[in-house]
This record gives sequence, C-alpha cells and structure tokens, in this order.
Amino acid sequence: MYRPRPVIPQSRFFSPFVVAFVVITTVLILAMTIGLLIHFLAFDKKTYFYHSSFQILNVEYTEALNSPATQEYRHLSERIESMITDAFRESNLRSEFIRTHVVKLRKEGNGVIADAVMKFRSSKRSNRKSMKNRIHSVLQILSNSGSLEITPSNEITSLTDQDTENFLTQECGARPDLITLSEERVIGGTLAETGDWPWQVSLQLNNVHHCGGILISNLWVLTAAHCFRSYSNPLQWTATFGVSTIRPILRVRVRSIVSHNNYRPTTRDNDIAVVQLERPITFNRNIHRVCLPAATQSIIPGSIAYVTGWGSLTYGGNTVTDLRQGQVRIVSTDECNEPAGYSGSVLPGMLCAGVPSGAVDACQGDSGGPLVQEDSRMLWFVVGIVSWGYQCGLPNKPGVYTRVTTYRDWIRQQTGV
Ligand code: ARG
Repeated sequence: MYRPRPVIPQSRFFSPFVVAFVVITTVLILAMTIGLLIHFLAFDKKTYFYHSSFQILNVEYTEALNSPATQEYRHLSERIESMITDAFRESNLRSEFIRTHVVKLRKEGNGVIADAVMKFRSSKRSNRKSMKNRIHSVLQILSNSGSLEITPSNEITSLTDQDTENFLTQECGARPDLITLSEERVIGGTLAETGDWPWQVSLQLNNVHHCGGILISNLWVLTAAHCFRSYSNPLQWTATFGVSTIRPILRVRVRSIVSHNNYRPTTRDNDIAVVQLERPITFNRNIHRVCLPAATQSIIPGSIAYVTGWGSLTYGGNTVTDLRQGQVRIVSTDECNEPAGYSGSVLPGMLCAGVPSGAVDACQGDSGGPLVQEDSRMLWFVVGIVSWGYQCGLPNKPGVYTRVTTYRDWIRQQTGV
C-alpha cells in the first residue's frame, strides 16, 4: 500500500549548507586569487640600489663646487638628477625607477664628476645582471640630451642597502628619508625617532645633560658659548649621541672647548662655541653631520625650520630624556625687534624663529642645539644655535638663535670645517 513519505522539508534543510559551501568556496578562491595577485604585484618587489658616475664635460670645476651649500653645487646636482630622472621616465624602466640622488661632485682634471645613487623597485625574480645592462643603455642617451654634456661611466655598481647608507651618511645633512631614497617623507608628532636628527648631540656635564650640540664633522660639535660660562673645564664634559640622554648609543669625551672671544653674557652677542671630541667618530645611520650653510645664504622670513632638543617642556620645568622636535618659522629681525617683541635686543648675529601663538619654542636645556632647514635636494642645514628667549613659548617672544651664517668663517677658522 502506498504510504506517503513524510514530507521532510529537505530542500529547506539542506540548501543552507549547499549555499554556505558555495559561498565559502567562492570567497576562498577569490581570497587566494587576490592574495596571489598582491603577492606578485607588490610583495614580490624588492628595492635595488646602483651607483654610477657621470663626467660633466662642459662645466669647469670651481671652488663653489666644494660645498653642497652653494647655489652652484645645488643647481648642478639638480640638473644632473633631473636629466637622469627624465631618461628613466622615458625608458622601459619607468615603472621600476624610483629616485636618484647626486651624492658628491668631485674634480677631475678641470672638469666635474658626479657620483649618483639610483633606486629601483622590481620583481625579486628579475635578473640583476640584465638590470645593469638595461640601466646602462638608458644612461647612454644622456650624452646627447640637454645642455650638460654628460658622459655616463660604463661602470654600474650594485649597492647593498649598507653601501647606500654609507654613501649618504658620509656626506652632510641626510635624514632617513634621503638615506633610503624613499618616496615619502614624514616628520610627525613631537617625539623624535631614532636617526631622525642624527647630528643632535647632548653635551653632558659630569654625565648629566646640560646643553644641546650639533655635529658638524666627525670631530667637531657646534654649540652655544653660554653653556660653558660656569664650567669651562673640558674634563667635566662628554658628548652623547642618540635620542635618549640616559641610554645613549655613543659617549665620547671632550678634548677642548673654544668659545667665541667676543661672547658677551649681558647682550648674549656671539653666543657660539665649538667643542672638539677626544677622538674622531665613525658615522652611521644614526650619527652623522649636518650641513653648514654658506656665509652668503639668506635665511628667508616665514620659511619652515625645526628645532630639536631635550629642553624642558614648560618654563622652569625639567629637561626630558627623549629627544623632541618642534616646527617653527623664521621671524624677520625687524619684526622680532618690535616693541612688543624684543625691542631692539636682537643683534645682527642673531636669528628669531617661532610660531605666532608661541606654543612651539625651545626652552631651558635646548641651548646649543640646532635650528635646521631643508634645502631643495632634501639636505639639512643648521641655520641657528639655540641661544635665548624671554621665558618659553610666549606670543611675540620667539626663540632667539645664533645666526650661523654670520659665524661661518669663524667656524672654519676654529675647526677647518
Ligand atoms: N638659554 C636657554 C638654555 O640654556 C635656552 C633658551 C631658549 N629659550 C627660548 N625661549 N627659545 O637652554
């Protein structure tokens, strides 16, 4: 006899599993495809650095090309950098090429040789040998383009990250973004990170932070003369490096201290000194020198500058152990000397910098430290030495710095730098 089967709502019961199975499988397949795509498009990429030199035939080597601070040095380097960049942008390496930087200009015969590093990003599986050949053939077209007569060298050297770092830290003024020729640049927050301000020195009196200092060579530190008013014996002083004053990455004894002969405590005129280290130090990613500006360099009111140090956060407060940075703008001496400001106390060898509200400023314990500015080639120059101010962070009372350009020749006489 026919017995009707009980109606089990089969479709209703099983279909959710089927649906779920189909959905999950689809999602999994999609995820794997996307994952593989991302892997091959992005994570398979590695950065490569190369070095080559370029002979510039129609430029005569002059004194002005001795220092990266001159307009001549800047212009020539920029022209070479943009010619190399254009060549790669118009070549089949356009998607691999990231950036180039002229590390050094040197003299050969009467002409100039430029050393440049170039950064590429390409697939890990691509062959480095063929990469060199491709770079070489792109660079060949430089010889007959533009107004510079450039002969690229036939030698293209591949550099390790360490080689590139060494190249850039031997020259002055490179911050981490330039050392890695990275595309993005960030200065965020107020707490500095390791290597951000590699020329910052802590000058310590009996191993306690007392003043900031600025590394200008492997042997010399630039600072303020007022730091040594009561303590002029070099044996009491050490210089430390790294963002922490209590766990420095290097500590070096001070051999000698040279304060400006005409330093006047009452007017604070000529508040500048140089400190010689006990021994030359070896530069690395986190410790190297800043660039010194040319004496003729004009410091433009309104332009951005950064001040760094371990000074107190409030007037009368304690110094801090982790390095801090502040963004300020250059204030013209005329504005700074207005009656509401310093009514004429700012002398020609001084430089003012601050923000309108006053909120960003140097303070006690920052003295002797750097006020720096970046040039068009991402090199950093010290334009001021923290010297004085009326309390800290008050409106109309910007920080007053020793104007480094005024003392450029004095620095050279004392240190040879
Ligand atoms: N003279 C102070 C020091 O010895 C630096 C003062 C800087 N003041 C200022 N408001 N910017 O550390």
